[in-house]
Amino acid sequence: MIEIKTVNLKRAKVNTLVVPVCEDQDIHTDSSVASLIDMAKAYDEFNGKKGETLTLFQPDGTQIVRALFFGLGNAEKINAESFRCVAGKAVGFGIKTGLAALTIATPSAANLLIDAQTIFKALMEGAVLGNHVFDHYKEKKEKKALKQVVLMATAAQKKAYSGLAKTVAAVCGASITARQWISTPSNDKQPDTFAQMIKHASTLPGLKTTIMDERWLEKQKFGAMLAVGQGSSASPRLVIVEYAPKGKKARQTVVLVGKGVTFDSGGINLKPSGSIETMKMDMSGAAAVAGTMLAVAALKPDIKVVGVMPLVENMPSGTAIRPGDIVRSFAGKTIEIGNTDAEGRLILIDAMAWAIKKYKPDTMIDLATLTGACMIALGEKIAGVFSNDQQLAERIVASGEATHERCWSLPLPEDYKELLKNDFADLNNMSSSRYGGAITAALFLSEFVGDTRWAHIDIAGPAWIKKASDYCGAGGTGFGVRLLCDWIGGV
Ligand code: BES
Ligand code: MN
Ligand code: ZN
Repeated sequence: MIEIKTVNLKRAKVNTLVVPVCEDQDIHTDSSVASLIDMAKAYDEFNGKKGETLTLFQPDGTQIVRALFFGLGNAEKINAESFRCVAGKAVGFGIKTGLAALTIATPSAANLLIDAQTIFKALMEGAVLGNHVFDHYKEKKEKKALKQVVLMATAAQKKAYSGLAKTVAAVCGASITARQWISTPSNDKQPDTFAQMIKHASTLPGLKTTIMDERWLEKQKFGAMLAVGQGSSASPRLVIVEYAPKGKKARQTVVLVGKGVTFDSGGINLKPSGSIETMKMDMSGAAAVAGTMLAVAALKPDIKVVGVMPLVENMPSGTAIRPGDIVRSFAGKTIEIGNTDAEGRLILIDAMAWAIKKYKPDTMIDLATLTGACMIALGEKIAGVFSNDQQLAERIVASGEATHERCWSLPLPEDYKELLKNDFADLNNMSSSRYGGAITAALFLSEFVGDTRWAHIDIAGPAWIKKASDYCGAGGTGFGVRLLCDWIGGV
C-alpha cells in the first residue's frame, strides 16, 4: 500500500497531493512544494495553525488535481504523532471522497525536533492505520480503503526507507487484525471460534500455534480459569503461539499473556446497562498479544517470544460460579469469589503460573482490560503499568511515548495486599476497599508471578474508542501491538 517515490511536481500528474504545513518554519525543501505552500498561505483562512486545512484545486504551474494542506502548528510542538495524525486524516478524507490513491509531500527534518526516519515512519503508520474500514456487518460496503499512498522522497531516502515500509506494514497490519477481532461481536467469537481465528491468522513461517481444550485445562488443573468459564455454554480454550529465532539460539525468552474474555457479562454479579454493551472488547489483551505474535513473525527478533491467551466467556447461568464459591488455582492457592465480575484476574493467574512453569521466561508481560478503576485513574487513552522491576516499567513507558500507545506507571504497594485477605481461602478475588481497584487487581496478579521479572498493563481505557480518532475508527483500537513490538525491539 505504501510506496516511497521520487516525484517531480513540475511534471508529474498527481491526483491528490497532501501537504503538511508548519506555522512558523519552512519544513519542505522541494521548491514546488514550497511555492504551493506560499499559494495556500496567501489565503487568510490558512496559516499552518494546528488543525487548519485548505484545499486548492488545480494550482497554477502544476498537474495536480487537488492539493490538501494540513496545518501542524509551531515547529517546537511537532512530533511523530503530528505526522501519524496528518496521514490518518488525509487517508480518512481519501476514503470518504472515494479516492484510490494519495501522494504525501514528506517534510524534511531540518527545522524540526525529530529526524527524517521518524517522519517517514510516522507518516507510514498513520496512513496504514487510518486505511482500515470495519464494514464486515454492513450490507452495503460504502467506504473503500485506498489502494496506494505515495510518500515523496529523495533517491537516497527511497533506498534507506523501503525496508522500514515493510516492517510498518507488518506491525500496523497486525494492529488492524487485532482491531477487527475486538470489534467482532461476541456471538461470532466465543472461545473456540476466537481460538480458530487466531490459529488461522498465525499460519506464518516461524510461528507455532496450539489450542488447548477444556479437557486439557481440567487435567492441568486450571481451576480459576475453568470457574470463570463454567457458566457459559461455550467452553474455554488456551491458545499458545510460539516464536523462536531460526538457526540461532534465543538470547532470552519473553512470555506475553493476554486476557481473552470474549464477553464479560459480569456473571452472577451481572453488569448493569451502560457497562455491559461494549463487553465484547474484554478480549482486547488477547487480541493485542496475538497481533503482536503476527508482527513478531515478520520482525524476526533473536529472542524467543511466546503468546499465551486464556479465552473464556463470563456468563450467568445455572452452572455459573457464585459469589462465595472457593476455587483452587493452577498454582495451588485457593480463592474465594467475592465478585464474579472480577474474572480477568482469575483467568490470568492460571495462564501466567502455567507459562512460568512451562517456559521459565526472563520477562513476562500481561495485557488486560482488567479494571474500570484504571480508567477512573488515567482516563480512556492511557494504560496503567505495574511492575516488580522499575527498569521494565520505564522501558514500557518509553515505548508508549515512541508509539503514542501511552502508559503510566502505578505502584504495587506491599501493604495494600492486606485488602485481598480472606477468612476462608488464601485470597479474595476482590478488594475489601472501594478504592485503588486497579492497584489491588495488579497486586492480586503479583501473588502468582513469584520472582519472574513481570509487568502488567491495564488497557481497559485505551483498548476501545467510542468515536473515531485521526487514524482509528470507532471500536477496537489494537492498543498494545505497536507498544509491545517497540518494546521487543529494545529487549
Ligand atoms: N472487564 C472489566 C473491566 C472493564 C471495565 C474493562 C470497563 C473495560 C471497560 C473487568 O472484568 C471488571 O468487571 N472489573 C471490575 C472489577 C471489580 C468487580 C472488582 C470493575 O472494574 O468494576
Ligand atoms: Mn468483569
Ligand atoms: Zn472483564
